[in-house]
Amino acid sequence: CKIVVLISGSGSNLQAIIDQGQTTGSHYQVAAVISNKPQALGLVRAQEAGIATACVEHTQFDSRESFDIALSEVIDQFQPDLVVLAGFMRILTPDFVRRYLGRLLNIHPSLLPKYPGLHTHQRAIDAGDSEAGATVHFVTEELDGGPPVLQAKVPILPGDSAETLANRVLSKEHLIYPAAVNWFAQGKLTLRHSEAFFDDVQI
Ligand code: GRF
Repeated sequence: CKIVVLISGSGSNLQAIIDQGQTTGSHYQVAAVISNKPQALGLVRAQEAGIATACVEHTQFDSRESFDIALSEVIDQFQPDLVVLAGFMRILTPDFVRRYLGRLLNIHPSLLPKYPGLHTHQRAIDAGDSEAGATVHFVTEELDGGPPVLQAKVPILPGDSAETLANRVLSKEHLIYPAAVNWFAQGKLTLRHSEAFFDDVQI
């Protein structure tokens, strides 16, 4: 299974996916990493792993539509079976989402349906929640609203800042995202009738 990973920043989830992809029992290869930001550390991580990289800078386009068309042209050069959003901080157009429907995954740092959008950790702390987490989900046209695939929970501890909580959540993201990608790669995870469908999955 060939995957293309889209990033905007640090790429720690990308690193976890690359590392897992190199182990036995992994059923996918990262064919390319594409960033909308030229300075993204994730591009360096990809290069160090010998993976093709590309940058499509959103600032060079005058609309979301034209950016997404250019982005999909670069993605399609690699003919991926799956497109993985890993800290890709752009809202995608309906046309883009439809093009990759059923083969587009995202990870969001909250226990969806709680806290779609930004600043999830601060919002969870401010709400007095006792736990937070991350959700892998199929991407649909609704922002952070697609069918959930896998969630991990962590406690919110007294004295947590958004940063300490984000780090605790990230360490779980690095476990669940490669697992979900590997399920998809094995044909054990599909989108059916707008729901995630599982066949013989194991953690
Ligand atoms: C993660 O928290 C992810 O859930 C969110 O953006 C962050 C990306 O981190 N969508 P990284 O670039 O993978 O380190």
